[in-house]
Amino acid sequence: MLPKKLQNKLNTRKQDNAFRQLGQTNGLVDFSSNDYLGFSQSKSIFNQAHQYLLDNNLAQNGATGSRLLSGNHSLYENVEQQIKDFHNAESALIFNSGYDANLGFFSCVPQRNDIILYDEFCHASIRDGISMSNAKSFKFKHNDLTHLEEILNQVQHDNDIYIVTESVFSMDGDSPDLKALTKLSKHHHTHLIIDEAHAFGVFGKLGNGLISDLQLEDSVFARIITFGKALGCHGATVLGSKDLRDYLINFSRPFIYTTALPPHSLATIKASYDEIQKQAQQDIVNLQQNIIVFKSELKRLHLQQLFIDSNSAIHCCMITGNDTVKQISEALKYNGFDVRPILSPTVPKEKERLRFCIHSYNSQHEITKVLQLLATFV
Ligand SMILES: Cc1ncc(COP(=O)(O)O)c(C=O)c1O
Repeated sequence: MLPKKLQNKLNTRKQDNAFRQLGQTNGLVDFSSNDYLGFSQSKSIFNQAHQYLLDNNLAQNGATGSRLLSGNHSLYENVEQQIKDFHNAESALIFNSGYDANLGFFSCVPQRNDIILYDEFCHASIRDGISMSNAKSFKFKHNDLTHLEEILNQVQHDNDIYIVTESVFSMDGDSPDLKALTKLSKHHHTHLIIDEAHAFGVFGKLGNGLISDLQLEDSVFARIITFGKALGCHGATVLGSKDLRDYLINFSRPFIYTTALPPHSLATIKASYDEIQKQAQQDIVNLQQNIIVFKSELKRLHLQQLFIDSNSAIHCCMITGNDTVKQISEALKYNGFDVRPILSPTVPKEKERLRFCIHSYNSQHEITKVLQLLATFV
C-alpha cells in the first residue's frame, strides 16, 4: 500500500485525465519521436559502432566505474575531441544524459548570491538543476528580451549573472532572438547558457545547431547538446572553455558520482557524429524541406492560427483541455498517425497541445494526410 498522501496524488492525476502510463510505439507514422534524422534506426551507424569497439579492443559490456575512477575508457578522449571540433568549441565534456548535463551544470556552476535568469518555459532538467543551486533565480517571460532586460536593470551586478534559455523550446518549437540575446548578455556582462537539445541536427548545413549556424560560439559561456534527439542515441555534452570542463570534472556531482557510459554508447556517439559530418547532408535537407512543407500545408488548410509559430522540427497545435487533446491524439492514432498530446501538468492548464515532431523520413504525403485529418477534428 502506498502512503495515503501519495495515493491521493495519483488519484488526482486520474481525475484530471493526466495519469502517466508507459506505452509502446507501434508501427504508426512517426510524428512523435525526437529521432529527427532517423539515426536511431541506422544500420550503418550500428555496424560502425560495433567495428570501433572491436578495433579499440573495447568489446566490454560496462564502463566498470565513474570516469574519475575506472570508467574513463579510451574512446572518451577521442569522442570528446571530435565533438568539440564539430561544434567549434574549446572543449566538450560528456555526461550520461541531457538531464544529467543540466543538473550537473546548474547545480555547481552558479555560486551562492550569483543570479540565474531563466526563460519561464525552460526544460525541467534546467529548472531542476537551478533548484539544486545556491544561487538566486528569477524567470523571465518566454522569449521576452524586454522583460529580461528589465530584470537585468533591476538586479545587482556585484555577483555573476547567468542567463539560460533554449535555442529551440521542446514543448513549443519556437526560438529566442539569439543575436539580440547575445548582445544583451554582452552588454550586461552576463554568462549565457544555451540548451541546443532540439536545434542540433536540425539547423545549419551540418546540423550543428543554431549557435554555430549564427556564428555565436564565442558569445556563449556554455552550450548543452544532447545525443538522445537528432543523434538518435544516448548521452550529452557540455561545450565551453577548458577551464569550465576542469571545473565540472571537479565539482559536478552528477558527473562525478555515477558510472560512466559504456564503450558501446561512446562508439555509437562517435559513429553518429561521423554520419552527421559525412553522410547526413541529404537527411538534413529532407528534414528542412519537410518543415517547409508542414508550414505551407498549415497555411493551405487554414490551421496556422492554431499553431505556435516555429521553424524547427517541433510544431504545436494548441487544443485546450486534457480530455480534448487526448481524444484528438487517439483519433489520429486510430488513423495510423502517432502524434502525442502534451497534457497539463507538463504544460500549464489550458495550454495543452498536440505536438508534431517532423522527421527527415516523413513523406510529404504523410504530412498532408495528418494535417487534413487534424483539420476535420479541430
Ligand atoms: C531542452 C531539453 N534539454 C534537455 C533534455 C534532456 O535530454 P536527455 O533526454 O538527453 O536527458 C531534453 C529532453 O527532453 C530537452 O528537451
